[in-house]
Amino acid sequence: MLKKLNNWWRWYRHPLPTELREFHQSVVIDGIEYDLMPAQLAHAEAMLAVERDAYFGQEPWPIELFWNEINRQHERLYLIVQIKATHTTVAYIGTAFRPSLREVHITNLAVNRQWQKRGLGKFMLSYIMSVAAQIQFETVSLEVRMTNQAAQKLYSRLGFRKVRTKHHYYDDGEDAVEMRSTLGKGRL
Ligand SMILES: CC(C)(COP(=O)(O)OP(=O)(O)OC[C@H]1O[C@@H](n2cnc3c(N)ncnc32)[C@H](O)[C@@H]1OP(=O)(O)O)[C@@H](O)C(=O)NCCC(=O)NCCS
Repeated sequence: MLKKLNNWWRWYRHPLPTELREFHQSVVIDGIEYDLMPAQLAHAEAMLAVERDAYFGQEPWPIELFWNEINRQHERLYLIVQIKATHTTVAYIGTAFRPSLREVHITNLAVNRQWQKRGLGKFMLSYIMSVAAQIQFETVSLEVRMTNQAAQKLYSRLGFRKVRTKHHYYDDGEDAVEMRSTLGKGRL
């Protein structure tokens, strides 16, 4: 009993095994070769640049927030995508692991505008969903702006469903749609 509790506590505090946190994967999407890897502190500037570009310079997270998120190694996983040939960072996804709910929450997802509509958003989100399923998490959740049709379409394609509206969720007063995918019942 004590051993079981001990194992559970270890999992609860560190739900992501090292092999899912320390990796470097090459992938070809639509004929272009990319590298997928966990973000390190040194990548924060490049992630901020992706964020600025993707959101047209609006409300980028401050660099300190990126540092803080990347440093929270036991509860967060930030992945970046680089173009293999140039090592340029063109996309990233941020996730928060909530073991008490067996839920992974997507904190952000951004693709440099020049690199959008090439399958990178879908690839990163699918990857996180498969990691979540591997570690026995049950749901993936996120919030998205009511007007962000592109992102909502992507999420719907991956099996996310609208759960509720969060009124005036964003600083400018826009509502958010909360979306959720139940792993195993989605498209994985
Ligand atoms: C949303 C975002 C991450 C999508 O990334 P992406 O790499 O361009 O998306 P993908 O190429 O993987 O597209 C996957 C699917 O999403 C949908 N989609 C993506 N961009 C779209 C657009 N501009 N208009 C309509 N549908 C779109 C499509 O259904 C697409 O599948 P299809 O090409 O087979 O039809 C990207 O547009 C982005 O960074 N936007 C700005 C930041 C943002 O809004 N982040 C989400 C915060 S919640």
